[in-house]
Amino acid sequence: MSNVEQTLSIIKPDAVERNLENEIKEIFKNNGFIILEEKKIQIEKLEAEKFYKVHETKPFYNDLCAYLSSGPIVVMVLEKENAVLENRKLMGATNPKDAEEGTIRKKYGISIDKNSVHGSDSVENARIEIDFFFKD
Ligand code: CMP
Repeated sequence: MSNVEQTLSIIKPDAVERNLENEIKEIFKNNGFIILEEKKIQIEKLEAEKFYKVHETKPFYNDLCAYLSSGPIVVMVLEKENAVLENRKLMGATNPKDAEEGTIRKKYGISIDKNSVHGSDSVENARIEIDFFFKD
């Protein structure tokens, strides 16, 4: 049975700054993802705080929000069979040091903060995150 899903992907400031936007989009397309929507934006720190609210009790929350709002990002809605899990596999582990060969974070990530891409971690959060950026 088919299980086509949508997930939210963000190309983070470290990757946009290094002009990796098109290369990373090609990786998604070459792995069967359809980019349904995309926009390049820069968000305010307050918006980043809302987006990452699930992490508000974590020690890295403030730095994380400052970082996500520090420069342009590309937000995309990706669609594929089992998109949430497939995107997480393609991104690799949160810390690029732990990411497997062939994953986006292994290839481009600089550190756990500057790990180049974000992807929704569940179908439920994907819906919330897509609405966050694309609901008008
Ligand atoms: P992301 O998938 O965007 O979700 C939250 C982000 O917090 C994560 O990627 C990392 O870039 C960042 N982060 C910083 N420190 C940590 C940590 N110790 N554990 C998990 N995520 C962290």
